[in-house]
Amino acid sequence: MTDTRFAGRTAFITGAAGDIGRTTAVRLAECGASVVLADVSEGVDETTQLCRDAGATDPVAIRFDVTDEHAVQQAFDDLVEAHVVPDLLFNNAGYQGLFCNVADYEADDFRRVLDINVTGVFNVLKSFSNALIAAGRPGAIVNTASMAHGGAPNMAAYSASKAAVIALTKTSAKDLADKSIRVNSVSPAFIGPGAMWDRQVQLQAETSSQYFSDDPDEVAQQMIGAVPLRRYGSLEEVADAVLFLLSDAASYITAFDIEISGGAV
Ligand SMILES: NC(=O)c1ccc[n+]([C@@H]2O[C@H](COP(=O)([O-])OP(=O)(O)OC[C@H]3O[C@@H](n4cnc5c(N)ncnc54)[C@H](O)[C@@H]3O)[C@@H](O)[C@H]2O)c1
Repeated sequence: MTDTRFAGRTAFITGAAGDIGRTTAVRLAECGASVVLADVSEGVDETTQLCRDAGATDPVAIRFDVTDEHAVQQAFDDLVEAHVVPDLLFNNAGYQGLFCNVADYEADDFRRVLDINVTGVFNVLKSFSNALIAAGRPGAIVNTASMAHGGAPNMAAYSASKAAVIALTKTSAKDLADKSIRVNSVSPAFIGPGAMWDRQVQLQAETSSQYFSDDPDEVAQQMIGAVPLRRYGSLEEVADAVLFLLSDAASYITAFDIEISGGAV
């Protein structure tokens, strides 16, 4: 049976050129949503085509940097002018930053991670919410956090940023509750295959830390060994959790973080 649970809804997805954003955007399109696909990368055009192939009518592609609050606001102003008011947001763009001991972490990169992963999430959440409030409509937001919020070794900025995403989620859920906008987050752990998995396995191996081998293949085994379900999660498994939180099946769930971690803590 065809899944049409998002028919009549419009989803705005950031990080839409990336692995998780693209997979989730295509799933939303398959389930009847109109999609607006945003990313700093030109890869967003490929996602647009994939969403069209999945059944989305007139998917919209937007190129912006989430840290540029004016560009983000302009994007929502342009959509509203075109009578497009997204009522679902997957606020997902992110950057892992450097992998090194906190004692060696470069301040410039620390700021960059916080700017993209926290201020960027805030910028999009704010512009999305204001457009929706002005239209007097309910909606749902899912922010992408990470299991790194608990303190992943060699990822000081990223871990701090994702803990902040969870706090921002819980505050926003309270502030937007009376506007009938639900705000939740997802915390993936080790998800693959994809750019982030490859990058973290390689870069953790290069840190010479006590936690991981200096052989990337062994690092992969060490990471999987820390997961009770003994495998990494798939992109589709992340998308499924996001779709649940965005859907009316989660109508009484707000201010919550779903851990997509195979039991890893
Ligand atoms: N893949 C994993 O294992 C994993 C685990 C936990 C959390 N996450 C989180 O999931 C989200 C998506 O990750 P992914 O695995 O798809 O990685 P990815 O690198 O494939 O995708 C990230 C996307 O964000 C975009 N982006 C980065 N900076 C941006 C900016 N300033 N403005 C606009 N777009 C920007 C990139 O261009 C890219 O398309 C991220 O927030 C990431 O932190 C991923």
